[in-house]
Amino acid sequence: MKLTIKDVAAAKGKRKLTMLTAYDYPMAACLEKAGIDMILVGDSLANVVLGLDSTKDVTMDQMIYHARAVRRGAPATFIIGDMPFEAYQKDVGQAAVNARRFVDEAGCDAVKLEWFEGALEAAGRVLDAGIPVMGHIGLTPQTADKLGGFKVQGKDAQAAHRLIGQARDFEKTGCFAVLLECVPAQVSRVITQALKVPTIGIGAGFSCDGQVLVTHDMLGLFERFKPRFVRQYARMTQDMVRAFEEFQSDVREGRFPAEEHCFKIKEEEFRKVMREEN
Ligand code: KIV
Repeated sequence: MKLTIKDVAAAKGKRKLTMLTAYDYPMAACLEKAGIDMILVGDSLANVVLGLDSTKDVTMDQMIYHARAVRRGAPATFIIGDMPFEAYQKDVGQAAVNARRFVDEAGCDAVKLEWFEGALEAAGRVLDAGIPVMGHIGLTPQTADKLGGFKVQGKDAQAAHRLIGQARDFEKTGCFAVLLECVPAQVSRVITQALKVPTIGIGAGFSCDGQVLVTHDMLGLFERFKPRFVRQYARMTQDMVRAFEEFQSDVREGRFPAEEHCFKIKEEEFRKVMREEN
């Protein structure tokens, strides 16, 4: 059964929440079959599906296109649309309009947005429009250039205090959960204990109230780089390449298609064809 915001809140301290990303129909269908609590249509779409270098380059229209396919694959799962950079960081005034698109056009249940100097204003506008928001702190890829690159955040006392403050501010604004990316485990524990809403970690240790991974990373389906915090549960690229090679040799050596893959017409009809042809 589809989770509600109430269920997500009630899970804190009782059971761990699970979240994985999806960008298309078949992946979403598999996640729903597995009973994953929440699906994130992540802006990691840019890297793992579109082959772009930066998540900043994915557009709102592309996110909606993929989110619609995800909803078709997982009609009974709580789906979060990840607000791309252009949806709220270029102009905070557009935050609610774009969040509404995720709900109305793609059937999402909530949106996620990353910390930046205007994050609380953006979150507030979306919440005022009646749309639940998950805040994202720590390593925020859309502003990684301002954080010194793709690095663990909150590694000294001052930076850790800053993260704790951001998490508290997101909660005060009304976010239903806070995602922590690449945060030292001890700092995540403090944040998780300080908040009433659940924390969802990625590279943020085991104290978080839930965990998320980019599905293509955990399936071994994205080979350009593998973050240290990822556990690979499958080697899909290897399996796919092996299947493609096998198809190729089967075709070349006459093993595919086989008898069971062929359609037939009745012998008498075929004899007529041959008579006419000869
Ligand atoms: O876009 C994404 O996939 C994310 C990850 C943190 C899960 O935001």
